Amino acid sequence: MEPQEIITRTADFIRDKFIGEGSGHDWDHIRRVWVTSRALAATLPHADPLVTELGALLHDVADWKFHAGDEEAGPRAARAWLSSLAVEEEVIQRVETIIREISFKGLGVPTPMSTPEGEAVQDADRLEAIGAIGVARAFAYGGHKGRPLHDPTVPPMQHASFESYKQNTAPTINHFYEKLLHLRERLHTPAARQLAQERHEFMETFLKQFLREWEGEDLATL
Ligand code: ADP
Ligand code: NI
Repeated sequence: MEPQEIITRTADFIRDKFIGEGSGHDWDHIRRVWVTSRALAATLPHADPLVTELGALLHDVADWKFHAGDEEAGPRAARAWLSSLAVEEEVIQRVETIIREISFKGLGVPTPMSTPEGEAVQDADRLEAIGAIGVARAFAYGGHKGRPLHDPTVPPMQHASFESYKQNTAPTINHFYEKLLHLRERLHTPAARQLAQERHEFMETFLKQFLREWEGEDLATL
């Protein structure tokens, strides 16, 4: 099968699976990660377009967060799909590696990407977690899990291990301190760092305004 047909079929498969999903892992998220990954990979001399695009399209195919913490669920589902298209073994393995390595696992847990394709896809996924869309997705995820928006009595928490990050059920605002405000510093590609600047600043403005309204500080202006 031609690479373009593999990509088109994979996009159709993922679109059907994720359309209308409500936890922030919907098709539009995946579509944006796909488009952004392609743009970032184009700035890297050694990134293979087919591996990048398949990695982007399949990166959330069976996220451990929705599969009882099973980190192999994603690579397994990607392999099953790509094998059904008779994609060559080497490409399958490189896509599996991206999915295995991509996820954030707590601030104290390094998550280096071992390939340029992986760097492009992880950066694209992380750009989706910051900025206006990142804010919207954080609250969509929190709502999906039934979590409060904020609780000032819960001190900001960071996680030194994947186990403690997994078990975390903190209010959504905490997620900014345990993850989102740190993503800008954890990007690989210069192009993603450039895009992150504005998105990061927007997120800081959002947080400041959220806490101001929470505390009723703006009432003092009456
Ligand atoms: P990663 O790829 O780094 O594992 P995801 O892309 O799967 O993370 O995360 C999906 C979205 O859900 C992101 O926007 C992320 O910020 C959000 N999210 C994940 N965990 C939480 C949480 N505990 N509270 C709020 N939002 C969360
Ligand atoms: Ni994602």
